[in-house]
Amino acid sequence: MAKLAKLDDVVSLCKRRGFIFQSSEIYGGLASCYDYGPLGVELKRNVRAAWWKSVVQMRDDVVGLDCSILMHPLVWKASGHADKFEDVIVECKKCNTRTRVDHLAGGEGEHTTHVSAEAATAAAGSLDSQKCPACGAVGKFTEPMAFKLMFETQMGANVDDTMKVWLRPETAQGIFVNFRNVLDSTRVKIPFGIAQIGKSFRNEVTTKAFIFRTREFEQAELEFFCMPGTDEHWYDHWKQERFNWYLNLGIKKENLRFREHAPDELAHYAKGCVDVEYLFPFGSGDWQELEGVANRTDYDLRQHQRGMRTLNSWYESKGDLSKIKLKDEAEDYHKGPLSYFDEQEKNRYIPYVIEPSAGIDRSTLAFLVDAYDEEEVKGQTRNLLRFHPDLAPIKAAIFPLVKKDGMPDIARSIYDDLRGLFTCFYDEKGAVGRRYRRQDEAGTPFCITVDGQTKEDGTVTVRQRDSMEQSRIAADKIKTYLREKLGM
Ligand code: GAP
Repeated sequence: MAKLAKLDDVVSLCKRRGFIFQSSEIYGGLASCYDYGPLGVELKRNVRAAWWKSVVQMRDDVVGLDCSILMHPLVWKASGHADKFEDVIVECKKCNTRTRVDHLAGGEGEHTTHVSAEAATAAAGSLDSQKCPACGAVGKFTEPMAFKLMFETQMGANVDDTMKVWLRPETAQGIFVNFRNVLDSTRVKIPFGIAQIGKSFRNEVTTKAFIFRTREFEQAELEFFCMPGTDEHWYDHWKQERFNWYLNLGIKKENLRFREHAPDELAHYAKGCVDVEYLFPFGSGDWQELEGVANRTDYDLRQHQRGMRTLNSWYESKGDLSKIKLKDEAEDYHKGPLSYFDEQEKNRYIPYVIEPSAGIDRSTLAFLVDAYDEEEVKGQTRNLLRFHPDLAPIKAAIFPLVKKDGMPDIARSIYDDLRGLFTCFYDEKGAVGRRYRRQDEAGTPFCITVDGQTKEDGTVTVRQRDSMEQSRIAADKIKTYLREKLGM
């Protein structure tokens, strides 16, 4: 039960201190949609930046991309999403609530595109004995049915040229359809990856636990292209890299584990898949997917090559040859327009893909929950967020002890000197102890106080968030001191 209280505490801190608000709250809120407040937006920016730094900036073999959310409908036909991206659900005849069949069986996984209605029902056991999670009625379900997860919208202003388009359910497909563009415009050579961070949308049947599973969310995905036969090596490589990323950003080791998917659990495109799971504080503590690392084989590039070929045939049948973008005359699909000529191997092939796919919002929740702490200090409860410095929304807060004797001027000038380097906060209101506590709750690693001694010897007090230790540092050395401590 303590775990459950912890999630509630985090949710309440997030609202109280401006990390996360419910969307459209003054209108009663919109279910499973959230807005990031002043502290939340900084935290989320830092999570994104940490991912980008590790996956793109620090590597020679990964480049970035930023694709549109709306894409040609044929992209989703070729990828399989238009036909297969669905959950198998039942509806309670008593209260009309829809529930995923696999969730009735106790599962909590992501979308079940690869599970047929029969398989999902078999896994759930007899529906006659299952209870509706909303009203508790037993065995009052409709027959299982498919529920499409993609949001549809219309594109185009004129009635005769409007077209049905979808909001992307994953960012990955933007990368696959730009594979050729990236090859032709850069000097990348296999093995290499293309990374992207962006919004995805899924009309989830069951949303869950604050920002854990929402209908609009942000993904950070890498598609790493490699030669078939080397895929197992790169799968292991990325599995470890991604696990270490969470550890290096402060997630406690005991709260993180791998879960390898069983063969009958694998998505239709995957040869192997492992989840990095985090022990989230739902119920009495729940291991849940934080990120998936999948071996997608050559499935996606092959599918898009096939999709282009179908489209080209259609243009040919209409005599409209100018519309054909990449001609595909190869007999062997390994030699088609999305294949790669490996100069070192003197061989042409469709690359295999290893895909680490993380959720920015879900990681943000894990970082919040893991950093949250409460401790007793002099008979009072101190709430704090023990964020890794790279993730802390504010790196340093600067205070004058009192609003007189020239202290605000000195504190302001330190603040002005530091704010160009990292996010800082200036505060001169209220007792200094209360200002420290507010920064503890925001997860600020350092507070700097200008006091009477500053005018005498040019030193300031530096207080550490985690230990509450205070030391005196020369004001003109503060920048160097913080840069070193923050690793910047
Ligand atoms: N391209 C592969 C893919 O999309 P996924 O397992 O469906 O795989 C990857 O999603 C990650 O995206 C998940 O591990 C999770 O972190 C995040 N994610 C997926 N659905 C989500 C949702 N409804 N709300 C929040 N995050 C979600």
